[in-house]
Amino acid sequence: MTDNCDSHAKHLLNCRVESLAQVAFNTYRLTFASNWLAEQAQPGQFVNIAVPRCGDILWRRPFSFHQIDRHSGACTVLIQVIGRGSEALTRVQPGEHLSCLAPLGNHFVIPAEIDELLIVAGGLGIAPFFFLLQEVAAQPYKKVLFYGAASADCFCRVDELSSLTSQLFLTTDDGSRGEQGLVIKPLQRFLAEPGGKRRLVLTCGPTRMMQAVQNLCKKYHLPGYVSVENLMACGFGACMGCAVQMIDKGLSAKPFLLACKDGPVFPIDEIVIDE
Ligand SMILES: Cc1cc2nc3c(=O)[nH]c(=O)nc-3n(C[C@H](O)[C@H](O)[C@H](O)COP(=O)(O)OP(=O)(O)OC[C@H]3O[C@@H](n4cnc5c(N)ncnc54)[C@H](O)[C@@H]3O)c2cc1C
Ligand code: FES
Repeated sequence: MTDNCDSHAKHLLNCRVESLAQVAFNTYRLTFASNWLAEQAQPGQFVNIAVPRCGDILWRRPFSFHQIDRHSGACTVLIQVIGRGSEALTRVQPGEHLSCLAPLGNHFVIPAEIDELLIVAGGLGIAPFFFLLQEVAAQPYKKVLFYGAASADCFCRVDELSSLTSQLFLTTDDGSRGEQGLVIKPLQRFLAEPGGKRRLVLTCGPTRMMQAVQNLCKKYHLPGYVSVENLMACGFGACMGCAVQMIDKGLSAKPFLLACKDGPVFPIDEIVIDE
């Protein structure tokens, strides 16, 4: 259900910045232009962007495709400022060009014959799911989003996400919007109710949240996929710096895979999710 992207398909692109806007606390939406990339990119894949004007930052920084307009060629990523690289990327100006290596990694492939698509996102883990929800908008199955954030001002694009989903559960750590507490709580309640027989779970976000989702999938025998955001360097399988441990089922000859090349999307019952 996940496809490995042909590594030869990635291109080094010089992309013009179209816009940059703050969309939430410490979080920006950066849009650049590439007709080719907008045709190629799939939900779950990412782009490695060279940090401009920081000669000492050697490695590109990875960001999930957040929104793609296949007609206009506009490619958008969500950037949360956590260090020097992400901060520098939120100071780019429309008109300047960014060096982008993309598309990288594999992607979500959702089988048509499901009844319910359950998406569990924590914080910036929402980034790939906007694009995914746009791509599956015409599909008949129910789309349920569980979206947790630290506080109300950390949510991104809730109204648009609401229009792309059948049901939306919001939680915040401080109770400033939605239910107070972890996003796992409404998911637990939802799964405890009788529902669609053919459910698929997707998750991306903080490690503990993904571990809890993994446990619930196991408890309810649900198939699922996790998108990991390991620390990365090269982004295309050369440095071996992003190993993901496989759960030892006594069958696998490959106890480790690479998040950048074999992932970032993995079957939730196949990998060890840890810090
Ligand atoms: C496949 C993939 C997709 C991603 N998608 C997004 C996205 O859509 N939006 C977004 O904002 N971020 C995303 N990230 C994370 C983003 O790449 C990092 O936040 C960014 O590279 C940090 O660069 P920096 O120079 O600002 O911080 P650095 O100076 O490199 O790091 C600052 C601190 O953050 C820690 N850190 C850096 N990267 C990560 C990470 N991946 N996980 C945990 N801690 C980290 C460092 O160890 C350090 O303590 C993604 C990462 C991956 C691997
Ligand atoms: S980041 Fe270099 S191998 Fe994955």
